[in-house]
Amino acid sequence: MIEISPSVLGADLLRLGEEIKLVEKLGLRWLHLDHMDGHFVPNISFGPDFVAAMRKQTDLFLDVHLMFSNPMKYIRAYAKAGANLISVHAEAEDDPKEALAAIAEYGIKAGLVINPGTDPESIRHLLPLCDMVLVMTVEPGFGGQSLREDCVAKIPVLREMIRESGRDILIEVDGGIKQENAQKVIDAGADVLVIGTGLFRAKDPKAVVKTVMKAAEGK
Ligand code: DX5
Ligand code: ZN
Repeated sequence: MIEISPSVLGADLLRLGEEIKLVEKLGLRWLHLDHMDGHFVPNISFGPDFVAAMRKQTDLFLDVHLMFSNPMKYIRAYAKAGANLISVHAEAEDDPKEALAAIAEYGIKAGLVINPGTDPESIRHLLPLCDMVLVMTVEPGFGGQSLREDCVAKIPVLREMIRESGRDILIEVDGGIKQENAQKVIDAGADVLVIGTGLFRAKDPKAVVKTVMKAAEGK
């Protein structure tokens, strides 16, 4: 089963309530919320209050992506706000092992993100603490960039590492996914596709979902 996790960064922020309703109406179950600290990435976005506001509005699975140098300070606030899954970066200053363990303590799912320049092999030892690995297919910080083919090539490598770990770990892929390239990402082995501008700014969001679901048939 393939999930689409629409990235709110690509939504019309002045019509956020309607955008969430659109996601629900499209039959999707996840929502991707990008949080940036202005340090780990050169941009600033939402905070824990934003997640709490979303939680009041919807039962969607809140998939929180923390682009933070020091996520440890904020995990509690995001967990209390109602996140269902929190992902932290392998490249962060805080020890990812501690951050993943801290997330699990709140009884929610823990994800580990790898940037385009990070070798999947470098996180093999952390897989026992992961419910999900997020493969960035753009440099994090901004929506609307183009998908990097070299990053797609990391997905099957990771899939094999996960098989060897014997654990049930999802692979999420984030950055530059559109109706036109979704098939490639799915065929490489993704379970969850983050789609921001490719969904919220599409002329026909319904057609985007249809294409992805068709591409995922039999997976
Ligand atoms: C980038 C974010 C992505 C971004 C994806 O830092 O992690 O989630 O919003 O947006 P698109 O799909 O437009 O590349
Ligand atoms: Zn993201």
